[in-house]
Amino acid sequence: MEEKNIIGMLSKTDKILLSNLKNGEMFANEVELKCGLERAAVINSARKLLSLNLINIESITKSRLRLTYLGQKYLKEGLPEYRVFCFAKKNKTFEYKQLFSSIVMDKDELNAAIGVLKRLSAIKVDGGKISVNLDPSSLIEERNVILKSVENNENVDYKFVQDFIKRGIIEQINEINEKFSITLSGVKIIKDPEFNKDYIDKISTNDIKNWQGLNFRGYIENPEIISSLSGKTNVKTKFISLIKNAMVSMGFLEMHSNFVESTFWNFDVMMFRQDHPDREIQDTVYLNGLEAVVPEKLLKNVKKVYESGFFSSKYNESIGYRRKFDTSKSNSLIMRGHTTATTFRYISEFISKNKDKPAKFFSVDKGFRNETMDNTHLLELYQIEGIVYGDNLTVSDLIGYIKQFYKKIGINNIRLKPTYNPYTEPSLEIQAFSPNLKRWIEVGNSGVFRPETLKPFGISKNIIAWGFGMERMLNLKLGIADIRDLYGAYTDIDLLRELESAKVFGEF
Ligand code: PHE
Repeated sequence: MEEKNIIGMLSKTDKILLSNLKNGEMFANEVELKCGLERAAVINSARKLLSLNLINIESITKSRLRLTYLGQKYLKEGLPEYRVFCFAKKNKTFEYKQLFSSIVMDKDELNAAIGVLKRLSAIKVDGGKISVNLDPSSLIEERNVILKSVENNENVDYKFVQDFIKRGIIEQINEINEKFSITLSGVKIIKDPEFNKDYIDKISTNDIKNWQGLNFRGYIENPEIISSLSGKTNVKTKFISLIKNAMVSMGFLEMHSNFVESTFWNFDVMMFRQDHPDREIQDTVYLNGLEAVVPEKLLKNVKKVYESGFFSSKYNESIGYRRKFDTSKSNSLIMRGHTTATTFRYISEFISKNKDKPAKFFSVDKGFRNETMDNTHLLELYQIEGIVYGDNLTVSDLIGYIKQFYKKIGINNIRLKPTYNPYTEPSLEIQAFSPNLKRWIEVGNSGVFRPETLKPFGISKNIIAWGFGMERMLNLKLGIADIRDLYGAYTDIDLLRELESAKVFGEF
C-alpha cells in the first residue's frame, strides 16, 4: 500500500498512538493514562497499526497482588484484628463475650481476628477474660496499611501478604500488558508532511449533505471491492427469521424470555424428579451466588402433585412419585437447559388466566447445556419451541403440526418414534434422514403435557408441545456436517459468504 493511502486510513486515535511511540516503547496502560484513552480504543488502534506494519506488539504477562472483594471490605472498615485490637486498647481487660455484643462482625471473622492477635501476643486470653498488650500496636497498624499499599499497587512486604492470601483478602493475579514499539515504516509515516494534515474522522449528517470539498479519512484501500466485503447477515440469523415467519404464518405468537432461569421453571414444574440426571452439574450450568424468587402458591401445588399426585375422575391413576419434594432446591439459578421453561411461564402467565381461549405460542431461542463440543453440539443450542392449547387436542393434532412445520421448512423425510419425557405422555421423538451421515438423526422432541404438569395451574384440557433443534435443521438444509463452521469461534468465513450468495433458503 502506498504511504499516502496508509496515512489517509489513520484515525485520530491511531495518529495519537503512533506519535507517542516516536520517543520509545510504551505499555498499553501507559498510553491509556497519558492520552486519556479507553483501553479498548488503545488495543483496537494498536491492532490496526500492527496490521499496517507501523508498530510491533509484544504481550507481557506480569503477576501482581490485588485486593479481593473481602479485601476491599477490610480496606474500608479495617482488618478484623485491627478492629478487635482497637476495642481491646480502649477496654484493657474485658470479657470474651463482650466482644460479640460490641463489635458487629461475623463469628468466624471475630475468632480469626482473636487468633491473629494471640499469635502477635497483642492479647492474652485467660478463661473467658481478655487482656491487652500494647507492645505490638505498630505491627497491627502496619498490617492495615498493607491493604492500602496493595490497592495503590505499591511494593509490599511478602511476609504479611502470604497470611492475607491464605485468608482470601489478597490474591495474586496475572495481568497481560501489551508493549508497543514503532517500526521503521511507522517512523517514516510520522515524518511525512501528510501525517499532520487534518481530515474528518467522524462523519456527521451535515458532512454527508455537503461532502464536496471536504477532506475525509479513508476507510478502505479499494472502494471497488466494498460490496463483496460488506457485512452480511449470517445464514443462521436468516434461517431463524424465516422460521419465525413460518411460525407466525401458522398463527403462533412469539414468546420472550430470559436465558437465566430457576430450577423451579426449568425442572420442577415439569415434574423432573429431584434426582433426575439432567439436573446434575455435568449437564446443567449452575450460577452460584444468587437465588430466584419462586411463586409460593405454585410451588406448593407442584410439591403436592409431585409427592402424591391428584385425584380426578379422568386420571385417577395419578399417584405422584410418593417421595418428598424438597422446596429448598427450587430457587437455584441456572442457564436454562431448554425453552420449555419459557413455555411453562406462558402457561402460567397467559393460558391459566384465560382458560376458555385457545392459544398458540412459539419461540426460537437459546438453551444451554454443559456438553462437550463436537460437530453437532455447541454449549448452546437454539430450540424451536411450540405449544398449542385448545379443546380436544390429541396426539394426531401434534403429528399434524410437526409434519406441517417440517414441510414448510423443506425437510420432507421425517419419521416419529415413541420416547420418554418426564413431562409428556405420549412423547414423540422426531427423526430426519441425513443424506450426509446416511442415517436417521434426532431433530426434535414433542408430546402431550402430562396432566400432572398442568394440574398446579388448574388446567385440565390437553396441551400439545414440541422442541425442534434449530442447528440440526440448518445442517440438513445446507448439507453441512459441522455446526461449528456456521457460527461460534471457528466459523468458516468463506463458506458463509458462499452460502449467502447462493441464496440457499428461498421463501418458506
Ligand atoms: N424440552 C424438550 C427438549 O429440550 C423438547 C420438548 C418440548 C418436548 C415440549 C416435549 C414438549 O428436548
